[in-house]
Amino acid sequence: MKEKIQDLIQELESIVLNSSDDIEQFRLKFLSKKGLINELIAQFRDVDASHKREIGQLLNIVKQNAQSKWESALAQASINTETDHSESIDYSLPSEPDFSGSRHPLSIIENKIISIFKQLGFVLHEGPEIEDDWHNFSALNFPKNHPARDMQDTFFINDDIALRTHTSSVQVRLMEKQKPPIRAIMPGRVYRNEAVSARANCFFHQIEGIYIDKKVSFKDLKQTLYIFVQQLFGEDIQVRFRPSYFPFTEPSAEMDISCQLCHGDGCNVCKQSGWLEILGCGMIDPNVLKMNGIDPDEYSGFAFGMGVERIAMLNFDVKDLRTYFNNDLRFLSQFKNY
Ligand code: PHE
Repeated sequence: MKEKIQDLIQELESIVLNSSDDIEQFRLKFLSKKGLINELIAQFRDVDASHKREIGQLLNIVKQNAQSKWESALAQASINTETDHSESIDYSLPSEPDFSGSRHPLSIIENKIISIFKQLGFVLHEGPEIEDDWHNFSALNFPKNHPARDMQDTFFINDDIALRTHTSSVQVRLMEKQKPPIRAIMPGRVYRNEAVSARANCFFHQIEGIYIDKKVSFKDLKQTLYIFVQQLFGEDIQVRFRPSYFPFTEPSAEMDISCQLCHGDGCNVCKQSGWLEILGCGMIDPNVLKMNGIDPDEYSGFAFGMGVERIAMLNFDVKDLRTYFNNDLRFLSQFKNY
């Protein structure tokens, strides 16, 4: 057996592979399932224990030699075909310009978020950006002259009409026309009268979600959002919920995730806290259900809302929000591979 293998090693060295036909014949003879090398490997079982070590090493060598000879012949053959092909190119022709565009980073993140919630059974809904007082405020438990309206610096068009300040208005439109169970996700652009800076803009994008059915509890809210951030940022993410206030949810909370940059040690992005706030949420106030024609004794629900820019900034490590809206191709073309 030893001689057989040594002969084979020599034979391999002397073979010259000139054509693709040669290469394929070589593969069939030596490397295929029924090839010579596998045949030898099958015989290895019967080798005397005292020779196993030596024969095993020789077998490895022969296998590696054959494999690498075949691979380099294949690679050489493909270079040759390319060269042949290039010889027929007319170099005087103008080059083909690369005009291929790419998705906007905010759309990339928005689509990612939507697809995670779609997997969890949420359906997509949209609503108008110009809203009346009822859908943006009153039906969400913001009574007239309530101080909570000041939390959202509104662009009014007249006394009753404004640019929506949040996508929660779509929540109202959905409850109006659909009976529970409702499980929906509502992305869209929202507007607030804020000074433009690295961290704030007068418009941004939100994604709101609601789930209304019998016996929906805070436990469902926590689990849904936990699965969501695990899918978006990775399984080892940690979350915490802090009590908060929104007029249309009770109880309300804000959800933080463990900082992905410093993993909890504290850095500039998380302001040394190890945590980053990413969304607001809560159980839909029974009053809101009632105002929208849903019996709060029979149904309960949760809602959550998040800013796409904020999540995109974390995801792509973008420090200045305005970068997303300058339409600078040097920035935008970096997202071709997402
Ligand atoms: N609409 C809230 C905001 O714009 C976010 C939110 C949505 C909070 C749903 C709770 C439930 O800040």
